[in-house]
Amino acid sequence: MRDRDADKRLAAETAVGEVRDHMLVGLGTGSTAAHAIAALAARGLRIETVATSEASAALARSKGLVVRDFADVAHVDLAIDGADAIDARLRCVKGAGGAMLREKVVAEAARRMLVIADGTKRVARLGATALPVEVLPFARAFVLDRLSAYFVRCVERAGYRTDNGHIVIDGHGWDDASPRALADRLMAVPGVVGHGLFLREVDAAYIAENGIVTRLERGRNPR
Ligand code: 5RP
Repeated sequence: MRDRDADKRLAAETAVGEVRDHMLVGLGTGSTAAHAIAALAARGLRIETVATSEASAALARSKGLVVRDFADVAHVDLAIDGADAIDARLRCVKGAGGAMLREKVVAEAARRMLVIADGTKRVARLGATALPVEVLPFARAFVLDRLSAYFVRCVERAGYRTDNGHIVIDGHGWDDASPRALADRLMAVPGVVGHGLFLREVDAAYIAENGIVTRLERGRNPR
């Protein structure tokens, strides 16, 4: 049995095969996305990138990739990012690395968004995975109180700040019968600035398990 990191690298390297010269590529965040950044740099294409975190921007620059300021960008050709959990409908939970807000903006700006993952990320149900919620520090106690209606347990990441200066509260134990409704309810709480539910952003997923890569395309996979 291969190790998970080898599968992450394989998924990343395979997905990077979709990148072509002159594309503007969205770089994800996390250990799988780091493999994609390395693979992208190794291809030596004439591309530009935008990054979903300061860490990914620094990594990409260290490998010689051009990283543009996303504040000047409205459209991205292709985004490639990891996930914490992904179901058969390509709905994801993201944000263990705390970058879910920028990741969602870049995913939404992308004409095509790819998730790359090892096989352990495939799930039948999303609700077993902690859902990260990005919160204005000013609203900390108020939001924690409101979130208790939707999660069995809410845990603030102690001493942690996102690249946007916000705190993250991980919601454990949530009802995944209607994730769209939960996403809407979370965004309706003043002080919540984002969350890790990606319900319609992902176009395809490259998932590697024991050295075999499966590509899932939105709307074309067995349920
Ligand atoms: C960061 C993310 C990551 O993509 C997700 O946590 C997966 O990380 P890894 O590739 O290290 O398993 O959403 O905010």
